[in-house]
Amino acid sequence: MKKSLYINGEWIETATYSPLYAPYSKEQIAEIPIASDEIIHEAIAHVQQANVKMEALTSLERAEILFQIAQLFKEHREQAAEIISLESAKPLKFALAEIDRTIETYQFAGEEAKRLVGEIIPMDAAKTGKNRFGYTIEQPLGTIAAITPFNFPQNLVAHKIGPAIATGNTVILKPASQTPLSAFFLAQLIDQTALPKGAFQVITGGGKQIGDLLVKHEKIKMITFTGSPAVGIGIRDKAGMKHVALELGSNAGLIIDEQVDLDYVATKCVTGAFSNQGQVCISLQRIYVKDTIYEQFTELFIEKTKALVLGDPLSAQTDVSAMIHANEQQRASAWVAEAVDHGAQLLLGGKEIDGVFPPTILANVDRHSKISCEEVFAPIVIINKITSIADGIESINDSKFGLQAGIFTKDIQTAFTAAKKLDVGGVMINDIPTYRVDQMPYGGVKLSGTGKEGLKYAIKEMTETKLIVWNNEGGI
Ligand code: SIN
Repeated sequence: MKKSLYINGEWIETATYSPLYAPYSKEQIAEIPIASDEIIHEAIAHVQQANVKMEALTSLERAEILFQIAQLFKEHREQAAEIISLESAKPLKFALAEIDRTIETYQFAGEEAKRLVGEIIPMDAAKTGKNRFGYTIEQPLGTIAAITPFNFPQNLVAHKIGPAIATGNTVILKPASQTPLSAFFLAQLIDQTALPKGAFQVITGGGKQIGDLLVKHEKIKMITFTGSPAVGIGIRDKAGMKHVALELGSNAGLIIDEQVDLDYVATKCVTGAFSNQGQVCISLQRIYVKDTIYEQFTELFIEKTKALVLGDPLSAQTDVSAMIHANEQQRASAWVAEAVDHGAQLLLGGKEIDGVFPPTILANVDRHSKISCEEVFAPIVIINKITSIADGIESINDSKFGLQAGIFTKDIQTAFTAAKKLDVGGVMINDIPTYRVDQMPYGGVKLSGTGKEGLKYAIKEMTETKLIVWNNEGGI
């Protein structure tokens, strides 16, 4: 029950612990160590020594460590998924899918470790560049602090640990306070690999105090964070000259044009809006439907949503379970009430059933309602009518966020226009904004963050390009 920190390859007990409760059963499932400042300083000291060992590894050795992690996840797939379901209430089928993605993410990271290429610079293209030979190499930064969220406690961690190891960096992981067990499980797996001791460490407890210490510490060279804009902006303000990558969420939108297969689209929308209780940064939150097909789409969407099974996350049948905390469910109810006060129609859900906040659909939602303009991070979606595609694009862009957006259309010109005009990091044509595979660039504009994930892209953020120029003027 009592867990330990993972520091320098050792399991460390602490003076104080805090209880961890399962969001669905509300039972206590573990006692989580609270790291003191002294322990964090110790971890940072150990990681400095590990940097030397990491620098000595070849690309092939780093790749093989990452393939080993992927293999260990394959061997412990069910156990890893059950831990996610227990501590975060992610339904088991989605937790298993997350582990399958985690395996791929570590594999992609291993492949990228072998592709850290530099450039030959055409020095003699400049008047004073004759007889010079220039090239670049990509070097690790040193130590990276990864501050990760509860909603994908393995795969979003893999998106930070994988590229960090691939590039020869060391990492201190501070997992979300709600999902430390997945981080400790990862440490157990990594402990079985050839990764040098101290190159990966897990510290928990203390919340903001740990975060602040990591963000301000001179030996930490990069902060990679996924979470809320408020915390992300705070990190950027305090991080000084460190590299900072921020993935900060959104209120993702989708446009549905005429003549598309509405049955297919409605099925996709159910997945996009309600998977993991809507607690996904690219969860489908706003649907804009052409007025001519609005009634037909809405009917189909409601019918398919009603078929979702609510309940225990550890049951294989469950589609929707509890949100991460009871307070979050209360917030979701309050946001629904506010939208209704502003004139929205509640078409489905809106009130907790047996401890689960159910899939909730609202129509005709005012653009100033929180449910439209803030990130809802709950199983709630709005459907509004549009009279033109331009209207839909404008509505999606009318947001302080811009992570991903989608459009279903049969018209190629409409698709091109949407791809160009939607002000987001990624546009999904004939798909929901929730679509993601792990090697694609992933990251937003506006308040959705800075920097990209997706192994090859995260690697750019986690390395420093060094230039080397040789002078052969004297014919030496
Ligand atoms: C996220 O919530 O940002 C991650 C979404 C995903 O990886 O599917």
